[in-house]
Amino acid sequence: MTDREDGHLKVTGAARYAADQHLDGLAYGYLITATVAKGTIRRMDVPDAPGVLAVYTPFNPLELHPFAKEDNAELTPPIQSPAVRYYGQAIGLVVAETFEQARDAAALVRCEYDAEPPQASFADGTPVTEGTSQVLAPGVGSIDEALASAAVRITAMYTSPAETHAAMEPHPTVAEWDGDHVTVYTATQGVLLAVERLSEALGIDPAKIRVINPYIGGGFGNKWDTWAHTPLTVAAARALGRPVKTVLTREQVFTVVGHRPPTRQTVTLGADQDGTLVAIKNDGVSAKAVSNGFFESAANLSMVMYGARNLYVSRSYVPLDTPVTTIMRAPGESNGSFALESALDELAEALGMDPLDLRRRNDSPVNPANGLPWSSKHLAECYDLGAERFGWSQRAKEPGTVADGDWLVGMGMATATYGAFRGQASIKVRLLSDGRATVSGTAADLGTGQSTVFALLAAEGLGIPVGRVVPELGDSSAPPAASAGGSGSTSTNGPAVQLATSAAIEALLELATGNPGSPFHGAQARFEKGEVVADGLAMPFGELLSALDLPAVEATATSPRNRVKDHAFRSFGAHFCEVRVNRWTMETRVTRWVCVADAGTIVNEKTARSQVIGGIVMGIGQALLEDLRLDAATGRFTNANLGDYLVPVNADIPHMDIHFLDYPDTLLSPLGARGIGEFGIVGAAAAIANAVHNATGHRIRDLPLTPEKLLA
Ligand code: MOS
Repeated sequence: MTDREDGHLKVTGAARYAADQHLDGLAYGYLITATVAKGTIRRMDVPDAPGVLAVYTPFNPLELHPFAKEDNAELTPPIQSPAVRYYGQAIGLVVAETFEQARDAAALVRCEYDAEPPQASFADGTPVTEGTSQVLAPGVGSIDEALASAAVRITAMYTSPAETHAAMEPHPTVAEWDGDHVTVYTATQGVLLAVERLSEALGIDPAKIRVINPYIGGGFGNKWDTWAHTPLTVAAARALGRPVKTVLTREQVFTVVGHRPPTRQTVTLGADQDGTLVAIKNDGVSAKAVSNGFFESAANLSMVMYGARNLYVSRSYVPLDTPVTTIMRAPGESNGSFALESALDELAEALGMDPLDLRRRNDSPVNPANGLPWSSKHLAECYDLGAERFGWSQRAKEPGTVADGDWLVGMGMATATYGAFRGQASIKVRLLSDGRATVSGTAADLGTGQSTVFALLAAEGLGIPVGRVVPELGDSSAPPAASAGGSGSTSTNGPAVQLATSAAIEALLELATGNPGSPFHGAQARFEKGEVVADGLAMPFGELLSALDLPAVEATATSPRNRVKDHAFRSFGAHFCEVRVNRWTMETRVTRWVCVADAGTIVNEKTARSQVIGGIVMGIGQALLEDLRLDAATGRFTNANLGDYLVPVNADIPHMDIHFLDYPDTLLSPLGARGIGEFGIVGAAAAIANAVHNATGHRIRDLPLTPEKLLA
C-alpha cells in the first residue's frame, strides 16, 4: 500500500503539466473550428486584430503531411485543404501575443462555406458489414440452427450513445524551437507516439524532436493520438521563431480529439434447460466517422466470455459526417459487456435461474473463440468471494419487491474482464552517489499510478525505501518503454524495471570488485538491501560511489514482448452492486459496490484499487448519465460542454469494496502482472442495469438509464 509518489506534488500544485510551461517570449495559439459538418470553405475573412502574429488557414497554410498511423486517429492533416468533414474540425490557428488576443481574433474570423447536408444519423444510416467471426460445434450448420435447437432462447437489442472522454486536463501543446531541434510539451499517452507523428507531420528527423510530458490530467484513450492542434502549434512556432502554446477549450475537446461512437447490438442467447449456453449471437453496429477508420466492434466480446459451443458475431459500421471516432476506456468491451451481461440476466430470468449461477455454469477454462487455455483464470473464486462480501444471497428473486421508504432496492451483478498483453520495453536504472536511484523510460502516468509502480519495483529490487527512488517518465529521450494504452503499462514496463534494477546491481558489483580504488576490489561481493557486502564489510551504494568519486552507475535493460502462443490472456472479475430507485422520480442511486478482481500480481494495491474504482465510476457515468447528443440535421454535438454533458461527481459514488485475488500470471511475465486500467468499466453498466431491473422490474436496454426511460 504505497502512496502515489507524485501525490504531494499534484495536490500542492507543484506538478508542472504541459500547459504550465511559461517560456520566455511565449505566443498563444487558438484554434478556429468549422461551424458546418460537411462542405468546402469558400473564403475566410481574417480582420486585423490587436496582438495577432499570424492566422493560418487553408488559404494561408502551414505545410503539414499526413501523420496518422492508426485508424483511431485523424487521418487528414489540418488546414491543407478547404474541405470540411465534420462540425468542430480545426480549420485554422490564430497566434497572438496573449491568449485573450488569440481568442478574440479567432472569434472575428468569418467563414463562408459551400455546405452540404451531413449524414449524421446513426439510426437512419445504412450499416456496412466489416466482418464476422464464428465457432460452430461439430455437425452444426449455422448459428441460427444452433439457436433453433436450444430449449430456451432470448433475443434483444441493446444500444449505447456516443460518449466523450472528458479528461480533466484539456489537450495542451507548447512548442519551442532551438535551431532545427524542437522541444514539445504536450499531454500524450506516449511521448514516442507524439515524436513519430510530429516527425511525419513536419517532415523532420525524429532525433530532432523531444517530447516532454511528466504529468497528465487523464487520458482514457483520447490522448493516444496526436490531434490537429499539436502539429499546428509546432509548425507555427517554427514559422514564427517563437515558442507557442495552444490549449484546447473544453468545447474543442468534444470535437477536435475524438469520441466513443454510439452502438447497437442484437444479442440472441440459446441455452439448455439447466442453463448451459448452446449458442451466443451478437450482431453489432457502431458509428464510424468518415474521417477515419476506427469503429468499436462491441460484439467481439461475446466471442470470449462464456463457454458456449456455438458463437457468432458480426461487425458493422455506419459511416457518419461526425468528429473522429476513437478509442475510449475499454473500447468495444465497455458497451459490449452492457449488451452481453444484460442479455445473460434476461436469459437467467427466462430460465428461472439465479444470474450468478448461470454465469458460474458457463465459466470456461479456455478462450471459447480459439480453444486456447487461459493463462491464469480464477473467475469462479471472484464470483464466490464477491457474492459473500456483497451478500448476494439476500437478493430478492422477484423484481420490484424490496422497498425502503420511497426507494426501490435492487441488486445486480456482471462479469468484469479485459484483455492482457505484454510488449517490449527498455528501462534505465541509475544508482546515484547520494543514495538515491532513478528509474526512467518513455512511459506515461495518466493518473494511473504508473510512476509509483516504477518506484516501488525498483525499490523492492534494490532493497531501499521507495522514497529514495525517483521515477522519470514522460520524456522521449529516455529508453523506449510502453505507452499507456490497452491496460498494458505495468504488464509491459514492470518486468523491464525489474530487469534494469538487477542490471544496475550487476554494474555496481562489477565496479565494486573491479575498481582498484574500491574497498571491495578483488573480493567476492554481493548486494543486499542497498549495500555492497563482502566478508566483514558493508557499504551503502551511495557511499561506495562517493568514495570512488563517481556520480552514478547505471544500466539499461530490455524486456521482451510476450511470446507465449499456446495460452490466452485476460483479467477477470465480478461486479456486484446495489441500487436504490426512487419510486416517484425513478432517479437511480448506486448505493453499494463490491468488485473482486483476478488481474495477476498487484504491484501497488492502493493505486490499483484507484484504477478499478476509476473504471467503475466511468461505468456508473455510462450507465446513468453520459450521453453525447448529435443533432442529425447539423452534425453538431448539442451538449459539448461539461454543463450539459453529465459525468458522475463524488456524491454519485458509494463506498467501493475492491478486492484483489493476487495470483501471479507467470506465463505472461516473471512479474505476473496483468492490466487493470480498463477492466473496471467492463460489466459496470450492466451490473447497474441488472440491479435496476431487480429493483423495479424495468429492463432498460438503452443507455443511459435515465428517469425518463424508467417512467415511460
Ligand atoms: Mo486506452 S482506450 O487503452 O488508450
